[in-house]
Amino acid sequence: MTRRGGRRDRRLPGRGDAGDTEAGPVLRAVGLSRVYGRGESAVVAVDGVDLDVPAGQTLAVTGPSGCGKSTLLHLLGGLDRPDEGEVWLGGQRIDLLGERALARLRRRAVGFVHQDFHLMDELTAAENVELPALLAGDSPRTARRRAAALLDRVGLADRGRHLPTELSGGQRQRVAIARALVNEPLVVLADEPTGNLDTAATHDVLRLFADLRATGQTLVLVTHDERVAATADRVVSLRDGASAEDTSVIAGGSRLGALLGWEE
Ligand SMILES: Nc1ncnc2c1ncn2[C@@H]1O[C@H](COP(=O)(O)OP(=O)(O)OP(=O)(O)O)[C@@H](O)[C@H]1O
Ligand SMILES: [Mg+2]
Repeated sequence: MTRRGGRRDRRLPGRGDAGDTEAGPVLRAVGLSRVYGRGESAVVAVDGVDLDVPAGQTLAVTGPSGCGKSTLLHLLGGLDRPDEGEVWLGGQRIDLLGERALARLRRRAVGFVHQDFHLMDELTAAENVELPALLAGDSPRTARRRAAALLDRVGLADRGRHLPTELSGGQRQRVAIARALVNEPLVVLADEPTGNLDTAATHDVLRLFADLRATGQTLVLVTHDERVAATADRVVSLRDGASAEDTSVIAGGSRLGALLGWEE
């Protein structure tokens, strides 16, 4: 997709930027901590995590339930703020931004995909995809065109007028992925994106992530699922909020191909 000019705020990263900057990788966490509650009931959900995600990398974050994966992802995407540490996106420190600037940056630079899709049930599939583009300042015509192209890309060109309730789980997740891509984000962050899908739908979504990986999209995938982790260039395992292991997966794409039974 091409970068377009117009009314956008040029000070914020996003929209077709490669992401890596002279200041470092597209996404960076430094000494990141998040504590829920206080006193004896305090839970340290994320505990001093340092993480660099270079542009174009697919990173899988794994670890047992409750170890802080979702919390970390929310911090990285500016959906939550750390108690300590820093988050940098596209060379800009985001954890200190005010609410409005942070919301604007999220809209442009972060594509979030949730386990349970988070589509708006009263909007059609196409309208769900258009909405973030409209909120980012695209004209209705441009938003429609972009949504149509993305629905085509995720194999749902003929489902744009359907409501989410008229779609299967896998189709809903593909709409959610199209929506995450509509503003050409610097990073796509996905929290258990196949957690509610059967095997066939999981394969559809993994194929889409493989396509995205091939286009150089930076991706962070939180997952319990080995098949999803196998799509990654690198796997970071969390234990009790801290990064316990950091593994580069050799030829993640080939492993995915083997798992799905494709020719590479
Ligand atoms: N809003 C909250 N208030 C208090 N504690 C919370 C809150 N959200 C999460 N926690 C706690 O923080 C810890 C990390 O939670 P988080 O949801 O990040 O884990 P997770 O690794 O994503 O788990 P799962 O694999 O089950 O999704 C858990 O102990 C959880 O109980
Ligand atoms: Mg979680």
